[in-house]
Amino acid sequence: MDKVLVYGAGTMGVGIAQVCAAAGKTVFLVGGLERAEEGKEKVASELNRAVQKGKLTAERADRVLEKIIPITDISEILSEVDLIIEVIIEDMAIKKEVFRKIEELKPKPETIFATNTSALSITELAKVTSFPERFLGIHFFNPAPVMKLVEIVKGLFTSDKTVIKAQAFVESLEKTPIVVKESPGFVVNRILVPMINEAAYALMEGVASAEDIDKGMTLGANHPIGPLALADLIGIDVCLAVMETLYREFGDSKYRPCPLLRKNVRAGFLGRKTKRGFFIYE
Ligand SMILES: NC(=O)c1ccc[n+]([C@@H]2O[C@H](COP(=O)([O-])OP(=O)(O)OC[C@H]3O[C@@H](n4cnc5c(N)ncnc54)[C@H](O)[C@@H]3O)[C@@H](O)[C@H]2O)c1
Repeated sequence: MDKVLVYGAGTMGVGIAQVCAAAGKTVFLVGGLERAEEGKEKVASELNRAVQKGKLTAERADRVLEKIIPITDISEILSEVDLIIEVIIEDMAIKKEVFRKIEELKPKPETIFATNTSALSITELAKVTSFPERFLGIHFFNPAPVMKLVEIVKGLFTSDKTVIKAQAFVESLEKTPIVVKESPGFVVNRILVPMINEAAYALMEGVASAEDIDKGMTLGANHPIGPLALADLIGIDVCLAVMETLYREFGDSKYRPCPLLRKNVRAGFLGRKTKRGFFIYE
């Protein structure tokens, strides 16, 4: 699968576009609410940083950047795209609307539809299309250029052929796929985000400061990053959306979202992307 449409140019869309371009794929990048050019600029500054650190040559950075084509009108390119990866806000209704719109524009018959959702039902999303067997989750982790794992999430309708193609695609990006059956939060977020939620409870209850909670988990549990700093990296809005999905789907009070997550989201303190979350970023 050499031609990819990345639909959404936020934190993850930009990272996924960079990963695909670095593997030589042609990437059509379309913004969600932002302009696709802004997404390409973010990739350019990321690559620039790598060049300055001596991790990448300027020629290689240029070659990667050339592979990213910002677009506004997806109808012009849908007939050539092998894979569509949706990477917009974690909201079932908005994601459904995007997939409906894409299908109306008639992509080629073998195109695979993928969502980068953190926790939502693949089966429910797939059902808005008329080819749910070609629909699955391809779930990258943040930051996409760094994190090695990709969860391949098989909905109830996803065919084995689609899964095999997705595995080969992920391997071509030099990432490691694991195949996961559809279940709320899949594997990693089902385990990871409740831990972040618990850290938010500890902070809310005044058990320790944010710094000390993170110090506790980095030095005491050998985590490379503390749970609150990780929430800021992921996006507190994304963490809240995952907890809401786990709570709703399992109906188990152990997944109740911490009110502090909600309070931060209401205030617009979403983490690194808004320069303020549990910590402040200059
Ligand atoms: N942040 C993470 O660590 C992470 C990791 C893996 C998966 N994800 C998932 O990836 C997806 C995107 O997350 P993100 O972190 O990039 O979020 P983000 O907030 O950085 O970007 C959100 C994107 O959605 C678009 N958007 C927002 N409202 C929209 C609307 N009404 N209509 C159309 N587009 C809209 C924005 O323009 C932007 O492109 C989500 O499903 C999220 O759960 C996030």
